[in-house]
Amino acid sequence: MKAPSDIAPTVTTVRVELGARAYDIAIGGGLLAQAGKRIAGIKPKAKAAIVSDENVAKHYLERCERSLEDAGIKTSRIVVPAGEGSKSFSIYEQVVNSILDARIERSDLVIALGGGVVGDLAGFAAATALRGVGLVQIPTSLLAQVDSSIGGKTGIDTRHGKNLVGAFHQPILVLADTDILDTLPPREFRSGYAEIAKYGLINDERFFGWLEKNWQGVFKGGEERVRAVATSCRAKAAIVARDEREAGERALLNLGHTFAHALEAATGYSERLLHGEAVAIGIVLAYRLSAKLGLCPQTDCDRAAAHLKAVGLPTRLTDVKGGLPDSTKLLNLMRTDKKVEHGSLVFVLARGIGKAFVAKGVEIGPVRALLDEARRDP
Ligand code: GLY
Repeated sequence: MKAPSDIAPTVTTVRVELGARAYDIAIGGGLLAQAGKRIAGIKPKAKAAIVSDENVAKHYLERCERSLEDAGIKTSRIVVPAGEGSKSFSIYEQVVNSILDARIERSDLVIALGGGVVGDLAGFAAATALRGVGLVQIPTSLLAQVDSSIGGKTGIDTRHGKNLVGAFHQPILVLADTDILDTLPPREFRSGYAEIAKYGLINDERFFGWLEKNWQGVFKGGEERVRAVATSCRAKAAIVARDEREAGERALLNLGHTFAHALEAATGYSERLLHGEAVAIGIVLAYRLSAKLGLCPQTDCDRAAAHLKAVGLPTRLTDVKGGLPDSTKLLNLMRTDKKVEHGSLVFVLARGIGKAFVAKGVEIGPVRALLDEARRDP
């Protein structure tokens, strides 16, 4: 995409190279105000149904609508309740019907203005309404900016688990306005930060080292935050470009997630444990398991845990308030996750910082021993 001349130069652009479905992720301050111009630059005649949640809509929906209308894009709004509960069949049905009520056509757009829940829900509605409508992601949480808005995974939850019904549907543009993150509650920002640290741990030790030195700047805002978000988006874009459908390498993005999803399920996907908090604990458990299996030096395991702890993230099972079920129950929850192949557990393990790899067929014994041990951490 060619940037119009009046667009601020401080914006970093990352390209997701997917051939005919390639798209840009624009990252920087003030992008919400530029949404209309940027979208009109790609789809000048489109109408747009903006999907948002009640919290985000209060702060940003009118600004988004104004920017689009000023650029000649007609808008309609679909506002859903905030929270994971909106990733349900019933809300999905409402969103799709509202898109059709708004007479959106295939050449028009659905815009997801919100965090991960809105992105996944609106993305799935866009993937399926009229067998596919163009999608623009305007992620408003750190987690959505560095992870869920990129790469085309969309979906809703079922009684069998999270994200079990969905589709791959790449957006045509992602606008990550880093100024919006100033209003995030600190706990939510920290939760999103776990996914940033994850990219360093997966395959970029230099980035991890930079984060160890500069994380306070990332939390404060400004240049360091833009750099951390852009580096994360670049890391994810590269992996998605090589393995869009998760046939192999993309699974690395699940570092910490096999444990995390079990912990989220055990705590009822509630405020007790946010997704990124569960990921932080899951990453540390994945490193501990790697060390236990003799794959990773204990010093690297300690270094990963120390950084996540330094930023204020939970890193131990005993950090989860209200207690957790026993190891057997946690193992059962891991087995019901998508990260199971032919009935055996798939983990992302590590040979060190920045040296993650996918390990299939991991034996239950050491995992159970680790959980038993971790449940007794002081
Ligand atoms: N969040 C993991 C992925 O997009 O593959």
